[in-house]
Order: sequence, then C-alpha cells, then structure tokens
Amino acid sequence: MPKYIPEPFRIKMVEPIRLIEKSARLAALQRAGYNVFGLRSDEVYIDLMTDSGTGAMSQEQWSALMLGDESYAGARSFFRLKEVIDQIFGFKHFVPVHQGRAAENILCAVLLKPGQKVPSNMHFDTTEGNIRARGGQPVNLVNKAAYDPQAILDFKGDMDVEALEKWIEETGVENIPFGMMTITNNAGGGQPVSMANIRAVSKVYRQHGIPFFIDACRYAENSYFIKLREKSYENKSPLEIAQEIFSLADGCTMSAKKDGLVNMGGFLAMNDDDLFVRVKAELILREGFPTYGGLSGRDLDALAVGLKEALNVEYLAYRLSQAEYLAGRLRDVGVPIIEPPGAHAIYIDAAGMLPHLNREQLPGQALSIALYLEGGIRGVELGTVAFGNQVNGHWEYPSLELVRLALPRRVYTQSHLDYVAEVLGEIKAQATSIKGMRMTYAPELLRHFTAQFEIA
Ligand SMILES: Cc1ncc(COP(=O)(O)O)c(C=O)c1O
Repeated sequence: MPKYIPEPFRIKMVEPIRLIEKSARLAALQRAGYNVFGLRSDEVYIDLMTDSGTGAMSQEQWSALMLGDESYAGARSFFRLKEVIDQIFGFKHFVPVHQGRAAENILCAVLLKPGQKVPSNMHFDTTEGNIRARGGQPVNLVNKAAYDPQAILDFKGDMDVEALEKWIEETGVENIPFGMMTITNNAGGGQPVSMANIRAVSKVYRQHGIPFFIDACRYAENSYFIKLREKSYENKSPLEIAQEIFSLADGCTMSAKKDGLVNMGGFLAMNDDDLFVRVKAELILREGFPTYGGLSGRDLDALAVGLKEALNVEYLAYRLSQAEYLAGRLRDVGVPIIEPPGAHAIYIDAAGMLPHLNREQLPGQALSIALYLEGGIRGVELGTVAFGNQVNGHWEYPSLELVRLALPRRVYTQSHLDYVAEVLGEIKAQATSIKGMRMTYAPELLRHFTAQFEIA
C-alpha cells in the first residue's frame, strides 16, 4: 500500500481556477474589509474556507438528481431519502431542512426557554448562535486535553463525563432542555469522539431525563475514526458503527453539506412523537412542508445517495489520508498544527505560528489574511474573532487561536495541497513581518462572517 492513498476517483469534469496578481489580491482584501468572507470566489485560487457544501458530487448523485420528484407533498424523493436515513440513523422521525443551522433553529425554537443552558463537548458557532438567539446559554464540556494543540489523543473530541455530571447537579435538570455532542468536534480541531464516550454521555443524559441530540454532520468521518482507533470496532463497517452511535441518542441535527456529500441540505431527526408534532409546525412556518423542508425533490435524491457514499471505506480511507498528507507537509515546513489532524480540516495554531503578536492583535485573523495575500488561499479564522467575547470593551479569549484549512470533499488533488504547504512554509519563514489586525465593525452574533478589520 502507498503511504498516502491516491484519490479513489478520476476527473470527468473540470472547473478552472486561477491565481490573480498579488496587487489584485491586496485590492480585493481592502475592498472586503480584510475579511476573507467578503472575497469573490474568482479572487480565490485554492478555497479551503470550508468543507461545507463545497464537495464534488459523484456520477451516481448527478444521475439521482434526474429522478427528483418535485411534488409538493409526499414526493417519491422524500421516501427514498427516508429509507436511507432510517437505515443509517434509525430515529423514528425526521424532517428535511435547507441546512444544519435550520435544524438547530427549529430544535431551539421548540425546546429552549430563555435562561436555559445546553451542554455539549463543544458547540459549533451556528449552534451557539441559535442557542443564544433564543436567550439560552451554550456550555462546552470537552475534555481538557482538547485545548492543548499538541496533545496527541485518539479521541480528543470526547466530553468530560465527570464535569458533565457535576455541571448537571449544579445547573439543575429543569434548566437543561436538551444536551448535545458534536461529532467530529469541528470547533476543537475536527477531533473525533469515541463510542465509549458517546455511550457514557448518553447514559448520563438518560439518567437525568435530558434528551440527547447529536450534531451529526461528520458522522461518517467520526465512524471511520472509531473503526481505526477504538478497540473491538476494527471489523465493523462504518455503517454498523454509525447505527450504534445513533442508537445512543434521542435525535440529531444534521448539516448534510458535510458527510451528506451534497451542496445544500440537512435534516432534524428525533424519536419523540410529541416533539415531532411541534417540529413539523415550526418547519412549515420556516422551511416548508415536512416532505421537502426547503429542499427540491432532486436535492433529496442526491442526499439519499450521498449519505451512503460517505460511509464507503475506500472513500473514507482516502479522505483521512488527504488530511494526514497535508498535516505531514505542514509539519515538514515547521507550521504548528493541532495534533493529531482530524479528517475534514487542518487547524493551524495561529498563536504558535505568529508568537510576536498578542491575542489582542488577532493572530488568527492576521494569518488568514497573509495566507490569501501570499498565495490566494482562503482559510478561515476560528479564534478570537469567531469565538471570543467582548465584555465592556475587553476581549475574553477562547483557549485556541486557530486558522482552519478545510478540505472540500473530492475536490482538490495532492498537488494543490503541496502548493498550500509551500505557501505556508514561506509565510512561516517571514512570520515576524506579519502585522496584527484590529476589528472596526462586528455584528452581535456570528461575528466572523461580516466583521471588518484594519491592519493594526
Ligand atoms: C459541527 C457543525 N455543526 C453545524 C454546522 C452548521 O451547518 P450549516 O452550515 O449547514 O448550517 C456546521 C457547519 O459548518 C458544523 O461544522
């Protein structure tokens, strides 16, 4: 076997990309208020902003689109999707939604009251935003090692079960409408969660009668990590592992833009009949009728195929290998990354890469800007800008100051990744010349999407 597994596909259709001149990149940054979310995709050469909705569909998915049934109610496409979701996730009910945050919004709308708290290993920013938007408080109870970028753990996304039990005692179950777990833990470096931990957390939630919802968007990657790393799972298929994971929960929120292998879509699944009735009412108000939930029939068909493809062992082996390859190249050029790498992204420790900048100078933001300016590469800050809080004019910093290089599924080849590593090697060599940033505008919620900056 080769050390790194080659792409298990060949290219049938191409989309040109182009590196524009450095002066044009600078002008684009200035126009965008030094926020890479403000760039046009034509201005980006290698786009590693997100693995969400940016993957390439397979020929089977493109064919499935043609089967789309666009009936308003009871479409065949819905029942084809239902069959697949029933098989993998096994919850009694589900509704399609247009993307993951819509599932989070509906869940919070029907279950959360102002002042209540929602625990997780680590919430993603949209989940945090949706909880806060309803007057709730997201609480992260991941194991402590998750905050140490260099700590090598097989399952660094695991929740601290003892801390969870203690926290529930202190908080009181009446203040906890539901509990969550994010697999894999995107906000903490894309780290997987072990079956043992999911089982332990499930037990705690169930003992206290707290409904357990999994943020499932990278369920296939997490299942494959369990197969590779957890004792007694090596002979189980990713499908069997996924089935076991979801049997431990009461429902899930799903952004299908990740391991659904589609460009748009999601769903909210649950076992509780009464909750399903309330969810449907909210869904009809916000997204659409329960058999399409804001998606076209053809989207439902592509998703039905994608959810299964994501569990293919050859695909998953290549997927993890691609992340490992980029991680290895970055280690070679001395770029500090969160270890060990996850599957969907490499997270650069921006504070470690730019030690001459203090946290107030927003090293993550500064690095994401340097990456675009030097190489036309778009990554995203996941540090102070994304997760910090400004209290009375002062920052409360999150533990990690990261820049995420997300890997769109089945999109970039190894030579694209070589280029990314070369650019980062050059930035590392002249790191001290990179200046800090200052934020000049920020919205109240989900700041990093639209905040504006200047060079400090
Ligand atoms: C862990 C996690 N949860 C939820 C979401 C939200 O999904 P969406 O972007 O489809 O709304 C994301 C998106 O990146 C995510 O990574």
